Amino acid sequence: MAPNVNVLLFSLLMWFLPCFDNYETKPAGLGSSKASTLYGSIAHPAGFDKLEREETVPLLLGTDQGLTKESFDQVASSQPNDSIVINVDDYGATGGGADDTMAFEKAWKAACASTGPASLVVSNNNTYLLKSITFSGPCKSNVSVMIEGTIEASSNTSDWSSKNRRIWILFSHIENLIVGGGGTINGNGHVWWQKSCKIDKSQPCKDAPTALTFKSCNELTVENLNVKNSQQIHIKFEKCNNVTASTISIEAPEKSPNTDGIHVTKTTNIQINYCNIGTGN
Ligand SMILES: *[C@@H]1O[C@H](CO)[C@@H](O)[C@H](O)[C@H]1NC(C)=O
Ligand SMILES: *[C@@H]1O[C@H](CO)[C@@H](O)[C@H](O)[C@H]1NC(C)=O
Ligand SMILES: *[C@@H]1O[C@H](CO)[C@@H](O)[C@H](O)[C@H]1NC(C)=O
Ligand SMILES: *[C@@H]1O[C@H](CO)[C@@H](O)[C@H](O)[C@H]1NC(C)=O
Ligand SMILES: *[C@@H]1O[C@H](CO)[C@@H](O)[C@H](O)[C@H]1NC(C)=O
Repeated sequence: MAPNVNVLLFSLLMWFLPCFDNYETKPAGLGSSKASTLYGSIAHPAGFDKLEREETVPLLLGTDQGLTKESFDQVASSQPNDSIVINVDDYGATGGGADDTMAFEKAWKAACASTGPASLVVSNNNTYLLKSITFSGPCKSNVSVMIEGTIEASSNTSDWSSKNRRIWILFSHIENLIVGGGGTINGNGHVWWQKSCKIDKSQPCKDAPTALTFKSCNELTVENLNVKNSQQIHIKFEKCNNVTASTISIEAPEKSPNTDGIHVTKTTNIQINYCNIGTGN
């Protein structure tokens, strides 16, 4: 149990670093009541809850006077207020090349079932391998997905059946979803590109997965992400309403076949801002 708590405290400290930076120069912009809700409570499986709450309280009290508008905004933009943090690591994700699909599925279930706003966190400083995966709603409350580290697709095309061949990561039927975090989503598309009929004429022309698909998601925000080397299309919005997609970087080699940047289908009221797109199509 002890190592888990240490990791948690360490990551909380990482969050607070910007606050400490500002402490001397810019005094108190906000009262302690706001500060204490900023970081929300921390939820974990298997009853760690109580222990961790006790451990984190002194940290919160120690910093609230130093919180400035700047640091508040910085945290608020990556961490919705009052949200419960659900880290994929606490659901068995290990990164480093092992298949983390099941751990992400479990963590999503917990986040989506949360009765209060939840934030599903993919840690910085690690690379998680995912096969085809669906994050589906409706959820009980608002969910944000903060991808701070890297998510990489399996490079084994046999991990995709003919049925799910068009999907790598799918978000479906979720309201008020926010996906961001500043991390990277890497489709690892090389294996698919080699098999494309555009590259190898002996191959049949078949679909390859879209890295990120948002289907029937209303009031959707996708921001602050690097999406690269998709198997085929990088991001697709389908049957969504009220969508903001901003500060997204999309990158794939010029010669990668059909690696379109963003597809928008049957979607209303979408704004795409400040995106950098350089791909093979
Ligand atoms: C958090 O609350 C503050 C005001 O209390 C608001 O300005 C900010 O937009 C909120 N952030 C999010 C992500 O909801
Ligand atoms: C980041 O990774 C390095 C090398 O694997 C490790 O030494 C360090 O503890 C990690 N930091 C965090 C915050 O996990
Ligand atoms: C969910 O998000 C919407 C849109 O940002 C917001 O209006 C609503 O207050 C949020 N609900 C909760 C419970 O935070
Ligand atoms: C690819 O996946 C298939 C089925 O999932 C498996 O049988 C095969 O061993 C995998 N190949 C490699 C190189 O891992
Ligand atoms: C969604 O967009 C519609 C217009 O398409 C607008 O009338 C409505 O207020 C928006 N809903 C929210 C929650 O922003």
